[in-house]
Amino acid sequence: MHILAIETSCDETGIAIVDTHTNGDKALVTILAETLLSQAEKHAEYGGVYPSLAKREHAKNLVPLFTEALQQAQMFERAERPEVSKEVLEEIKELLEREPELFAHLVILLAQLKKPSIDAIAVTNGPGLEPALWVGVNFARALSLAWGIPLIPTNHMEGHIAAALAEGEDSTYNMYTPSFPALALLISGGHTELVHIPKWKEYEKIGSTRDDAVGEAFDKSARLLGLPYPGGPEISALALAAREEGLEQVYSLPRPMLTTDDLNFSFSGLKTAVRNLVQSIGTPTPEQRKLVARELEDAITEVLVAKTKRALELHGAKTLIVSGGVAANTHIRKALEELVSEFPEATVHFPLRRLSTDNGVMIALAASFHTPTKDTNISANAHLSLDGTNRKEGKKQ
Ligand code: KG4
Ligand code: ZN
Repeated sequence: MHILAIETSCDETGIAIVDTHTNGDKALVTILAETLLSQAEKHAEYGGVYPSLAKREHAKNLVPLFTEALQQAQMFERAERPEVSKEVLEEIKELLEREPELFAHLVILLAQLKKPSIDAIAVTNGPGLEPALWVGVNFARALSLAWGIPLIPTNHMEGHIAAALAEGEDSTYNMYTPSFPALALLISGGHTELVHIPKWKEYEKIGSTRDDAVGEAFDKSARLLGLPYPGGPEISALALAAREEGLEQVYSLPRPMLTTDDLNFSFSGLKTAVRNLVQSIGTPTPEQRKLVARELEDAITEVLVAKTKRALELHGAKTLIVSGGVAANTHIRKALEELVSEFPEATVHFPLRRLSTDNGVMIALAASFHTPTKDTNISANAHLSLDGTNRKEGKKQ
Protein backbone atom coordinates (compact mmCIF):
# COMPACT_ATOMS: atom_id res chain seq x y z
CA MET A 1 0.00 0.00 0.00
CA HIS A 2 1.30 3.48 -0.87
CA ILE A 3 0.77 5.94 1.98
CA LEU A 4 1.24 9.69 1.69
CA ALA A 5 1.85 11.16 5.15
CA ILE A 6 1.55 14.78 6.24
CA GLU A 7 2.90 16.22 9.50
CA THR A 8 2.23 19.83 10.58
CA SER A 9 1.61 19.60 14.32
CA CYS A 10 4.38 21.95 15.39
CA ASP A 11 7.18 23.75 13.57
CA GLU A 12 8.25 21.11 11.05
CA THR A 13 6.42 20.60 7.78
CA GLY A 14 6.99 16.96 6.88
CA ILE A 15 5.77 14.94 3.91
CA ALA A 16 6.59 11.32 3.20
CA ILE A 17 5.47 8.73 0.70
CA VAL A 18 6.03 5.12 1.71
CA ASP A 19 5.23 1.64 0.47
CA THR A 20 4.10 -0.80 3.17
CA HIS A 21 4.59 -4.48 2.44
CA THR A 22 5.44 -7.74 4.18
CA ASN A 23 8.10 -10.40 3.90
CA GLY A 24 7.00 -13.53 5.72
CA ASP A 25 5.93 -12.26 9.13
CA LYS A 26 7.98 -9.08 8.81
CA ALA A 27 6.18 -5.77 8.30
CA LEU A 28 8.32 -3.61 6.04
CA VAL A 29 8.08 0.04 5.11
CA THR A 30 10.03 1.41 2.16
CA ILE A 31 10.53 5.17 2.00
CA LEU A 32 9.75 6.37 -1.52
CA ALA A 33 10.00 10.06 -0.68
CA GLU A 34 10.80 12.20 2.31
CA THR A 35 10.69 15.99 2.53
CA LEU A 36 11.02 18.11 5.64
CA LEU A 37 11.23 21.81 6.29
CA SER A 38 12.02 23.11 9.75
CA GLN A 39 10.79 26.54 10.79
CA ALA A 40 12.96 26.50 13.92
CA GLU A 41 15.01 29.51 12.79
CA LYS A 42 11.86 31.53 12.13
CA HIS A 43 10.60 30.84 15.66
CA ALA A 44 14.00 31.40 17.28
CA GLU A 45 13.35 35.06 18.08
CA TYR A 46 10.23 34.10 20.05
CA GLY A 47 12.17 31.49 22.06
CA GLY A 48 9.52 28.90 21.24
CA VAL A 49 6.99 28.05 18.58
CA TYR A 50 4.62 30.87 17.61
CA PRO A 51 1.38 29.13 16.47
CA SER A 52 0.08 31.58 13.87
CA LEU A 53 3.51 31.85 12.26
CA ALA A 54 3.70 28.03 12.19
CA LYS A 55 0.31 27.88 10.47
CA ARG A 56 1.34 30.45 7.83
CA GLU A 57 4.61 28.66 7.12
CA HIS A 58 2.92 25.26 6.76
CA ALA A 59 0.37 26.75 4.37
CA LYS A 60 3.18 28.24 2.29
CA ASN A 61 5.35 25.12 2.23
CA LEU A 62 2.96 22.20 1.91
CA VAL A 63 2.44 22.27 -1.86
CA PRO A 64 6.14 22.78 -2.73
CA LEU A 65 7.13 19.94 -0.36
CA PHE A 66 4.36 17.69 -1.68
CA THR A 67 5.46 18.38 -5.26
CA GLU A 68 9.04 17.54 -4.37
CA ALA A 69 7.90 14.34 -2.65
CA LEU A 70 5.90 13.27 -5.71
CA GLN A 71 8.97 13.86 -7.87
CA GLN A 72 11.21 11.87 -5.50
CA ALA A 73 8.70 8.99 -5.56
CA GLN A 74 8.48 9.27 -9.36
CA MET A 75 4.77 9.92 -9.03
CA PHE A 76 4.74 13.33 -10.69
CA GLU A 77 3.04 12.74 -14.01
CA ARG A 78 1.52 15.51 -16.05
CA ALA A 79 -2.15 15.17 -17.01
CA GLU A 80 -3.25 16.11 -20.55
CA ARG A 81 -6.29 17.83 -19.14
CA PRO A 82 -7.29 18.65 -15.55
CA GLU A 83 -8.58 15.55 -13.74
CA VAL A 84 -10.37 17.35 -10.91
CA SER A 85 -13.85 18.66 -11.73
CA LYS A 86 -14.99 22.27 -11.18
CA GLU A 87 -17.47 21.07 -8.54
CA VAL A 88 -14.77 19.34 -6.54
CA LEU A 89 -12.52 22.38 -6.87
CA GLU A 90 -15.35 24.50 -5.43
CA GLU A 91 -15.59 22.13 -2.46
CA ILE A 92 -11.83 22.34 -1.96
CA LYS A 93 -11.99 26.13 -2.16
CA GLU A 94 -14.55 26.18 0.61
CA LEU A 95 -12.49 23.78 2.70
CA LEU A 96 -9.38 25.93 2.32
CA GLU A 97 -11.24 29.19 2.84
CA ARG A 98 -8.85 30.20 5.62
CA GLU A 99 -5.75 29.15 3.71
CA PRO A 100 -6.04 31.07 0.42
CA GLU A 101 -2.33 30.78 -0.34
CA LEU A 102 -2.45 27.01 0.07
CA PHE A 103 -5.53 26.84 -2.16
CA ALA A 104 -3.86 28.97 -4.85
CA HIS A 105 -0.82 26.65 -4.91
CA LEU A 106 -2.95 23.54 -4.89
CA VAL A 107 -5.19 24.59 -7.78
CA ILE A 108 -2.15 25.09 -10.00
CA LEU A 109 -0.78 21.70 -9.03
CA LEU A 110 -4.07 19.84 -9.49
CA ALA A 111 -4.54 21.36 -12.93
CA GLN A 112 -1.40 19.73 -14.25
CA LEU A 113 -1.11 16.52 -12.27
CA LYS A 114 -2.31 12.98 -12.93
CA LYS A 115 -3.74 11.24 -9.89
CA PRO A 116 -0.69 9.67 -8.20
CA SER A 117 -0.73 6.01 -7.17
CA ILE A 118 -1.44 6.74 -3.50
CA ASP A 119 -3.80 4.42 -1.62
CA ALA A 120 -4.20 6.35 1.62
CA ILE A 121 -3.41 9.80 2.99
CA ALA A 122 -2.21 9.86 6.60
CA VAL A 123 -2.26 13.13 8.47
CA THR A 124 -1.40 14.14 12.00
CA ASN A 125 -4.70 15.21 13.58
CA GLY A 126 -3.30 15.80 17.07
CA PRO A 127 -1.93 16.46 19.57
CA GLY A 128 -0.16 19.68 18.68
CA LEU A 129 -0.78 23.33 17.96
CA GLU A 130 -4.35 23.62 16.79
CA PRO A 131 -3.87 26.18 13.97
CA ALA A 132 -0.85 24.25 12.67
CA LEU A 133 -2.68 20.92 12.80
CA TRP A 134 -5.66 22.30 10.88
CA VAL A 135 -3.53 23.30 7.88
CA GLY A 136 -2.28 19.73 7.49
CA VAL A 137 -5.70 18.20 8.12
CA ASN A 138 -7.38 20.48 5.59
CA PHE A 139 -4.66 19.85 3.04
CA ALA A 140 -5.12 16.08 3.48
CA ARG A 141 -8.90 16.45 3.16
CA ALA A 142 -8.46 18.54 0.01
CA LEU A 143 -6.27 15.86 -1.62
CA SER A 144 -8.70 13.19 -0.48
CA LEU A 145 -11.57 15.07 -2.11
CA ALA A 146 -9.62 15.72 -5.29
CA TRP A 147 -8.65 12.12 -5.89
CA GLY A 148 -11.11 10.08 -3.81
CA ILE A 149 -8.32 8.68 -1.63
CA PRO A 150 -9.21 7.55 1.94
CA LEU A 151 -7.62 9.17 4.99
CA ILE A 152 -5.79 7.82 8.03
CA PRO A 153 -6.01 10.37 10.87
CA THR A 154 -2.86 9.72 12.87
CA ASN A 155 -1.84 10.53 16.41
CA HIS A 156 1.47 12.39 16.55
CA MET A 157 2.54 10.49 19.68
CA GLU A 158 1.84 7.15 18.03
CA GLY A 159 4.09 8.47 15.25
CA HIS A 160 6.90 8.93 17.78
CA ILE A 161 6.29 5.38 19.10
CA ALA A 162 6.30 3.92 15.58
CA ALA A 163 9.53 5.80 14.81
CA ALA A 164 11.27 3.96 17.65
CA LEU A 165 10.15 0.62 16.23
CA ALA A 166 11.63 1.22 12.78
CA GLU A 167 14.85 -0.74 12.31
CA GLY A 168 17.29 -0.58 9.43
CA GLU A 169 19.77 1.80 7.94
CA ASP A 170 18.73 2.00 4.30
CA SER A 171 15.41 3.14 2.87
CA THR A 172 13.48 0.02 3.94
CA TYR A 173 12.58 -0.25 7.60
CA ASN A 174 11.59 -3.42 9.39
CA MET A 175 8.86 -2.63 11.93
CA TYR A 176 9.91 -4.30 15.18
CA THR A 177 7.09 -5.97 17.12
CA PRO A 178 7.60 -5.19 20.80
CA SER A 179 7.27 -7.77 23.56
CA PHE A 180 4.30 -6.85 25.72
CA PRO A 181 3.59 -5.28 28.07
CA ALA A 182 5.61 -2.39 26.70
CA LEU A 183 6.23 1.05 28.13
CA ALA A 184 6.75 4.24 26.15
CA LEU A 185 8.55 7.28 27.48
CA LEU A 186 7.57 10.11 25.16
CA ILE A 187 9.72 13.18 25.62
CA SER A 188 9.42 16.13 23.28
CA GLY A 189 8.93 19.88 23.19
CA GLY A 190 5.22 19.47 23.84
CA HIS A 191 4.97 16.22 25.79
CA THR A 192 6.37 14.24 28.68
CA GLU A 193 4.40 11.05 29.03
CA LEU A 194 4.72 7.52 30.28
CA VAL A 195 2.43 5.21 28.36
CA HIS A 196 1.65 1.63 29.31
CA ILE A 197 1.10 -0.55 26.22
CA PRO A 198 -0.46 -3.86 27.37
CA LYS A 199 -0.84 -5.04 23.79
CA TRP A 200 -0.55 -3.92 20.18
CA LYS A 201 -2.18 -0.49 19.64
CA GLU A 202 -3.60 -0.26 23.15
CA TYR A 203 -2.33 2.70 25.09
CA GLU A 204 -2.85 3.83 28.65
CA LYS A 205 -1.28 7.05 29.84
CA ILE A 206 0.14 6.38 33.30
CA GLY A 207 2.18 9.52 33.85
CA SER A 208 2.56 12.99 32.43
CA THR A 209 3.85 16.45 33.19
CA ARG A 210 1.84 18.78 35.36
CA ASP A 211 3.26 21.83 33.64
CA ASP A 212 6.16 22.21 31.19
CA ALA A 213 7.29 19.40 28.92
CA VAL A 214 10.85 18.21 29.25
CA GLY A 215 11.81 19.75 25.88
CA GLU A 216 10.39 23.06 27.11
CA ALA A 217 12.62 22.85 30.18
CA PHE A 218 15.59 22.52 27.83
CA ASP A 219 14.36 25.24 25.48
CA LYS A 220 13.37 27.80 28.15
CA SER A 221 16.52 27.24 30.19
CA ALA A 222 18.62 27.56 27.05
CA ARG A 223 16.97 30.89 26.37
CA LEU A 224 17.83 32.08 29.89
CA LEU A 225 21.43 31.18 29.12
CA GLY A 226 21.29 33.19 25.90
CA LEU A 227 21.34 30.10 23.68
CA PRO A 228 19.28 29.82 20.47
CA TYR A 229 16.08 27.79 20.00
CA PRO A 230 15.75 24.79 20.00
CA GLY A 231 17.76 24.67 23.18
CA GLY A 232 17.97 20.92 23.76
CA PRO A 233 20.87 20.22 21.39
CA GLU A 234 22.68 23.38 22.61
CA ILE A 235 22.39 22.42 26.29
CA SER A 236 23.41 18.89 25.48
CA ALA A 237 26.56 20.03 23.64
CA LEU A 238 27.59 22.34 26.52
CA ALA A 239 26.90 19.62 29.10
CA LEU A 240 29.06 17.22 27.12
CA ALA A 241 31.86 19.78 27.04
CA ALA A 242 31.62 20.21 30.83
CA ARG A 243 31.94 16.45 31.27
CA GLU A 244 34.77 16.06 28.77
CA GLU A 245 36.71 18.95 30.28
CA GLY A 246 36.15 17.49 33.76
CA LEU A 247 34.85 20.82 35.10
CA GLU A 248 34.04 20.67 38.77
CA GLN A 249 30.34 21.13 39.45
CA VAL A 250 29.58 24.10 41.67
CA TYR A 251 25.86 24.48 41.04
CA SER A 252 22.91 22.46 42.15
CA LEU A 253 19.42 22.43 40.68
CA PRO A 254 16.32 20.65 42.06
CA ARG A 255 15.15 17.22 40.85
CA PRO A 256 11.39 17.97 40.79
CA MET A 257 9.11 15.15 41.94
CA LEU A 258 12.01 12.72 42.03
CA THR A 259 10.68 10.81 45.00
CA THR A 260 6.93 11.38 44.74
CA ASP A 261 4.78 8.31 44.88
CA ASP A 262 3.51 8.57 41.28
CA LEU A 263 4.62 8.65 37.66
CA ASN A 264 4.11 12.34 37.03
CA PHE A 265 6.60 15.06 36.21
CA SER A 266 6.93 18.78 36.75
CA PHE A 267 9.54 20.87 35.01
CA SER A 268 8.45 24.48 35.44
CA GLY A 269 10.15 24.73 38.85
CA LEU A 270 13.39 23.63 37.26
CA LYS A 271 13.18 26.41 34.71
CA THR A 272 12.51 28.90 37.54
CA ALA A 273 15.52 27.53 39.41
CA VAL A 274 17.65 28.03 36.28
CA ARG A 275 16.35 31.61 36.04
CA ASN A 276 17.30 32.29 39.66
CA LEU A 277 20.68 30.67 39.21
CA VAL A 278 21.45 32.65 36.05
CA GLN A 279 20.32 35.87 37.77
CA SER A 280 22.60 35.17 40.70
CA ILE A 281 25.52 34.57 38.34
CA GLY A 282 24.92 37.75 36.32
CA THR A 283 26.49 37.27 32.90
CA PRO A 284 27.71 33.68 32.83
CA THR A 285 31.20 32.94 31.53
CA PRO A 286 31.47 30.14 28.93
CA GLU A 287 32.59 27.82 31.71
CA GLN A 288 29.66 28.74 33.97
CA ARG A 289 27.29 28.13 31.07
CA LYS A 290 28.68 24.66 30.58
CA LEU A 291 28.24 23.89 34.26
CA VAL A 292 24.63 25.12 34.37
CA ALA A 293 23.88 23.10 31.22
CA ARG A 294 25.41 20.00 32.73
CA GLU A 295 23.52 20.39 36.00
CA LEU A 296 20.26 20.88 34.09
CA GLU A 297 20.85 17.82 31.92
CA ASP A 298 21.77 15.77 35.01
CA ALA A 299 18.66 16.92 36.89
CA ILE A 300 16.35 16.11 33.97
CA THR A 301 18.02 12.76 33.35
CA GLU A 302 17.75 11.69 36.99
CA VAL A 303 14.04 12.48 37.10
CA LEU A 304 13.34 10.69 33.81
CA VAL A 305 15.29 7.62 34.91
CA ALA A 306 13.64 7.45 38.34
CA LYS A 307 10.10 7.66 36.98
CA THR A 308 10.79 5.24 34.14
CA LYS A 309 12.30 2.78 36.60
CA ARG A 310 9.20 2.98 38.74
CA ALA A 311 6.94 2.42 35.73
CA LEU A 312 9.02 -0.55 34.51
CA GLU A 313 8.73 -2.13 37.95
CA LEU A 314 5.03 -1.43 38.35
CA HIS A 315 4.01 -2.86 34.98
CA GLY A 316 6.69 -5.47 34.43
CA ALA A 317 7.35 -4.00 30.99
CA LYS A 318 9.39 -6.10 28.58
CA THR A 319 10.04 -3.35 26.06
CA LEU A 320 10.91 0.28 26.75
CA ILE A 321 10.24 2.60 23.83
CA VAL A 322 11.84 6.03 24.18
CA SER A 323 10.83 8.62 21.62
CA GLY A 324 10.22 12.30 20.84
CA GLY A 325 12.75 15.03 20.10
CA VAL A 326 14.46 14.77 23.49
CA ALA A 327 15.19 11.08 22.77
CA ALA A 328 17.97 12.43 20.54
CA ASN A 329 19.85 13.36 23.74
CA THR A 330 22.89 11.11 24.09
CA HIS A 331 23.22 11.46 27.86
CA ILE A 332 19.56 10.57 28.46
CA ARG A 333 19.85 7.63 26.04
CA LYS A 334 22.85 6.24 27.88
CA ALA A 335 21.21 6.60 31.28
CA LEU A 336 18.07 4.81 30.09
CA GLU A 337 20.15 2.04 28.48
CA GLU A 338 21.88 1.54 31.82
CA LEU A 339 18.54 1.48 33.59
CA VAL A 340 17.11 -1.18 31.27
CA SER A 341 20.22 -3.32 31.70
CA GLU A 342 19.05 -3.76 35.32
CA PHE A 343 15.93 -5.49 33.96
CA PRO A 344 17.13 -8.74 32.36
CA GLU A 345 13.82 -9.37 30.58
CA ALA A 346 13.54 -5.92 29.04
CA THR A 347 14.96 -4.30 25.92
CA VAL A 348 15.07 -0.61 25.04
CA HIS A 349 14.30 0.97 21.66
CA PHE A 350 15.14 4.45 20.45
CA PRO A 351 14.34 5.97 17.09
CA LEU A 352 17.07 6.31 14.51
CA ARG A 353 18.43 9.83 14.94
CA ARG A 354 16.86 11.05 11.72
CA LEU A 355 13.46 9.90 13.00
CA SER A 356 13.82 11.40 16.50
CA THR A 357 12.43 14.85 15.87
CA ASP A 358 9.18 15.54 14.03
CA ASN A 359 8.99 14.33 10.44
CA GLY A 360 6.54 12.91 7.92
CA VAL A 361 8.00 9.39 7.90
CA MET A 362 6.99 8.70 11.50
CA ILE A 363 3.39 9.54 10.62
CA ALA A 364 3.52 7.12 7.70
CA LEU A 365 4.97 4.43 10.00
CA ALA A 366 2.16 4.87 12.57
CA ALA A 367 -0.44 4.99 9.81
CA SER A 368 0.82 1.62 8.56
CA PHE A 369 -0.73 0.12 11.75
CA HIS A 370 -4.21 1.41 10.84
CA THR A 371 -6.91 0.99 8.26
CA PRO A 372 -7.89 3.99 6.09
CA THR A 373 -11.27 5.59 6.69
CA LYS A 374 -13.78 6.70 4.04
CA ASP A 375 -14.84 9.51 6.38
CA THR A 376 -13.36 12.69 4.90
CA ASN A 377 -14.78 14.83 7.66
CA ILE A 378 -11.87 14.46 10.07
CA SER A 379 -10.81 17.25 12.40
CA ALA A 380 -7.74 18.45 14.23
CA ASN A 381 -7.63 18.04 17.98
CA ALA A 382 -4.86 19.83 19.87
CA HIS A 383 -5.40 17.55 22.87
CA LEU A 384 -5.91 14.25 21.08
CA SER A 385 -4.93 11.52 23.50
CA LEU A 386 -3.33 8.18 22.76
CA ASP A 387 -5.66 6.11 24.87
CA GLY A 388 -8.59 6.05 22.51
CA THR A 389 -10.52 9.08 23.64
CA ASN A 390 -11.11 11.47 20.78
CA ARG A 391 -9.68 9.03 18.28
CA LYS A 392 -11.53 8.99 14.99
CA GLU A 393 -10.44 6.30 12.63
CA GLY A 394 -11.55 3.40 10.53
CA LYS A 395 -11.98 -0.10 11.82
CA LYS A 396 -8.81 -1.37 13.45
CA GLN A 397 -6.88 -4.13 11.70
O1 KG4 B 1 9.47 15.84 18.94
P1 KG4 B 1 9.95 17.22 18.61
O2 KG4 B 1 10.74 17.42 17.34
O3 KG4 B 1 8.78 18.22 18.55
C1 KG4 B 1 7.68 18.16 19.41
O4 KG4 B 1 6.76 17.36 19.13
O5 KG4 B 1 7.77 18.89 20.43
O6 KG4 B 1 10.82 17.69 19.88
C2 KG4 B 1 11.47 18.94 19.90
C3 KG4 B 1 12.15 19.09 21.24
C4 KG4 B 1 12.70 20.48 21.50
O7 KG4 B 1 12.30 20.90 22.79
C5 KG4 B 1 14.22 20.28 21.45
O8 KG4 B 1 14.94 21.18 22.26
C6 KG4 B 1 14.32 18.86 21.94
O9 KG4 B 1 13.25 18.18 21.34
N1 KG4 B 1 15.60 18.23 21.56
C7 KG4 B 1 16.56 17.88 22.47
C8 KG4 B 1 17.64 17.36 21.72
N2 KG4 B 1 17.31 17.42 20.39
C9 KG4 B 1 16.05 17.94 20.32
N3 KG4 B 1 16.56 17.95 23.80
C10 KG4 B 1 17.67 17.53 24.44
N4 KG4 B 1 18.74 17.05 23.82
C11 KG4 B 1 18.79 16.93 22.47
N5 KG4 B 1 19.87 16.45 21.86
ZN1 ZN C 1 6.92 15.45 18.24
